[in-house]
Amino acid sequence: MTDWSEPIRKKGFVLNFQTKKLQEISDRHITNPCRSVEEYEKLNMLGQGTYGVVYRVRDKKTKKEYALKKVKVDRDLFRDGFPVACLREISILKSCKHENIVDLKEVVVGEQLEKIFLVMEYCEQDLASLLDNLEKPFSESEVKCIIMQLLRGLEYLHGHYIIHRDIKVSNLLLTDTGCLKIADFGLARTFSVPQKSMTPGLVTLWYRPPELLLGSPNQSTAIDMWAVGCILGELLSHKPLLPGTSEISQINLIVDLLGTPSESIWPGFKDLPALQNFNLRQQPYNNLKTRFPYLSQVGLRLLNFLFMYDPMKRATAVECLQSSYFKEAPLPADPKLMPSFPQHRNLKASTSSMTSGRTRTQERVGNSNISDILGNVLKKKRFE
Ligand SMILES: Nc1ncnc2c1ncn2[C@@H]1O[C@H](COP(=O)(O)OP(=O)(O)OP(=O)(O)O)[C@@H](O)[C@H]1O
Ligand SMILES: [Mg+2]
Repeated sequence: MTDWSEPIRKKGFVLNFQTKKLQEISDRHITNPCRSVEEYEKLNMLGQGTYGVVYRVRDKKTKKEYALKKVKVDRDLFRDGFPVACLREISILKSCKHENIVDLKEVVVGEQLEKIFLVMEYCEQDLASLLDNLEKPFSESEVKCIIMQLLRGLEYLHGHYIIHRDIKVSNLLLTDTGCLKIADFGLARTFSVPQKSMTPGLVTLWYRPPELLLGSPNQSTAIDMWAVGCILGELLSHKPLLPGTSEISQINLIVDLLGTPSESIWPGFKDLPALQNFNLRQQPYNNLKTRFPYLSQVGLRLLNFLFMYDPMKRATAVECLQSSYFKEAPLPADPKLMPSFPQHRNLKASTSSMTSGRTRTQERVGNSNISDILGNVLKKKRFE
């Protein structure tokens, strides 16, 4: 006797009561138990994020290489079932199929309940460690190639009602064939129209938009687009564009670059909850042209569009992809012609950085102002 409450494990046929015909059970209805992490051989560590450690691994059977991310979950969190934040990252990643989004191959488990691992396609570089180790900066046509791929990935995500909420260089991976992949969906959320307010997940400080810094409860896809502006500026100027050390210093850097926002350019600005916590300095000028003296008119227009204070007016990924900036010389490089780089993360001796000052890789773990500490607590809290 078949127990229908049990998950379906095998291929087979069922009788369709509507058509009265036998119908093959489709793959999506077959539940396979997760394989064990023992199926993979650990090669080396690739990165350590807030949530967990990522290793380069090899499938013992196929010998193919993958990236394995250990999801950090406390044993206690399993009291009320499988942790929801973990499920969210897995389900969002699983639902995405796009060349510029990292592909989740499978989820594997260890011996204990809380040992959960994501097996993803392996990408040779992440943009943060690459930028920290690059001998020669990217050319403008290479920058365009990278940004266009980022925009295509975001066009896909936003078109599927997903906000990434943590776009930054260490979450952008690059393959040896020049393909950019958006990774790390630990803070990603799906949204609906009209939007409901979200928990204040915190985009990493340097890439955080003014509406989040000022406590807006409305989070939209525009928060990812602000980060695109920061990354475009960072790639063009070969250094982080707005490297704040605290929330107030972040706001000051934004105001220095773009001028002080006002109710007239950003309706609703004066009612933002955190505005009273800051004493915004008065600075009337937009200094993007001074910061990017060699950038063309259309390039500057694109940057300004990405840095609109009012999230409602900020450029969308679709609008950016239509920008003439990507149609004028120097044209975007063909991804296949992008240079390949030494795999610093796989070379033990490569820990020293060739750039001076604070590195992007340090920024990943070293942004220890109160709000970031709180952010991490919040991140953790969402598991509970
Ligand atoms: N598929 C992959 N291929 C190669 N390297 C990867 C892959 N996924 C992640 N990494 C490396 O591991 C690092 C951390 O991964 P990820 O961002 O997913 O973890 P995290 O704990 O959520 O990080 P954080 O919270 O600091 O952003 C990345 O910056 C990258 O260097
Ligand atoms: Mg990350």
